[in-house]
Amino acid sequence: MKKIAVIGTGYVGLVSGAGLADFGNAVICADIDADKINLLKNSEIPIYEPGLKEIVFRNVNAGRLSFSNNVNKAIKDSDVIFIAVGTPEGENGASDLSAVLEVARAIGENLNDYKVICTKSTVPIGTGLQIMDKISKLSNSSTKFDYVSNPEFLREGSAVKDFLWPDRVVIGASNQRAIDMMKEVYRPLYINETPIIETTIQTAELIKYASNAFLAVKISYINEIANICDEIDADVHVVSKAMGVDGRISPKFLHPGPGFGGSCFPKDTKALISTANELGSGLEVVNGAIRANKRQKERMVAKLMKLMSNDVSGKTIALLGLAFKAQTDDIRESPAIEMIESLLASNATVNVFDPVANANMKKKFNQINVFESWEDAVKEADCVAIMTEWNEFRGLDLAKLKELVKSPIILDSRNILNNDTLERHGFTYDNVGRK
Ligand code: UGA
Repeated sequence: MKKIAVIGTGYVGLVSGAGLADFGNAVICADIDADKINLLKNSEIPIYEPGLKEIVFRNVNAGRLSFSNNVNKAIKDSDVIFIAVGTPEGENGASDLSAVLEVARAIGENLNDYKVICTKSTVPIGTGLQIMDKISKLSNSSTKFDYVSNPEFLREGSAVKDFLWPDRVVIGASNQRAIDMMKEVYRPLYINETPIIETTIQTAELIKYASNAFLAVKISYINEIANICDEIDADVHVVSKAMGVDGRISPKFLHPGPGFGGSCFPKDTKALISTANELGSGLEVVNGAIRANKRQKERMVAKLMKLMSNDVSGKTIALLGLAFKAQTDDIRESPAIEMIESLLASNATVNVFDPVANANMKKKFNQINVFESWEDAVKEADCVAIMTEWNEFRGLDLAKLKELVKSPIILDSRNILNNDTLERHGFTYDNVGRK
């Protein structure tokens, strides 16, 4: 059992803190945001993430997890410090490291004993060196520390599961002492023989970006194949199924859609390109994926406009789903944003419903009409667009939908509805590479 401080209580920090406590460690989740810490102390979770509430309070009740806004004390009291603060997109696509370096400063100033400093946030290659340098300069030279890069591979919506049962754990360290410490931290995963890759710090930093950029490329690739299917007599689902059974390709992340969003792929692809540019090496494949993704989001707007004969002015369009994917309330870089912007610019009335992301989108676009059920959102609509693949939309009662709308026109940007059923109910429809 190790004493751990996790600095930053966002999607990554809170899930990691709770997961590390579940592994038997004593964890303090610390954040300078006193409001967030107060919420957590009052048994409230500031974000929507399935299973998070259960794991957090199970560990709080077991006395292994606590919350504090005293970052300095949390550092002093711990053997291992996880840096899990945000790294938003900064200038020219590079990551903004100010929060990470601020934590490094706090660690340097509070290094009272040997500690392992471990970065979970996605940081550009070379950041580990910067962090070590900052801590060394600020701390007492006789106090030792080791640095570890331990990138996270958590998907929003299944982050708790991904933390407890990961495909792999990557530990980038410069010496055995740090690796041994991490072995204790992740003891249950070592015991159940999770693949653990022990490597250098910079290799670990690169693995994170290389993985995310690869998945982004894979999605853009199948989206572009879907676009070819749109023009010929082909079904992209059959294409991706046949591709996916080839073990070299694998079926995952071959689902076409309205373009990838979220806080990771859009930002990380740009950050990797920024690093490649600095190093003078090209990254044309990833550049292509970013361009294709932008076009994919625009293509969804064009598809809807085409369904509406390019006239949405004064019409009511109902969007079902706002989050960048199902099982999250996160709307960052969601394809629904592009859609709402274009519809509002064309003077359409925009009705929306999302099971958990309504409030977040309303904050961004005050003009949209937010509803508490899909039935209310689609009433008298001239067109319906499915923007997120929530389960409740998969089983949409099309007979009921047809009764509620003004015109039976539907854009299924997530390919979750059945073409035959849509035709049977007399819908005019479009999707991504299936029609
Ligand atoms: C992603 C990675 O999957 C995680 O491994 C990583 O830890 C995380 O970024 C991060 O860097 O923190 P996340 O952004 O939560 O996780 O979401 P994904 O499930 O990867 O989906 C990203 C986007 O791709 C979504 O917009 C989703 O709708 C889209 N997608 C995904 C597709 O369009 N098709 C697919 O087949 C899969």
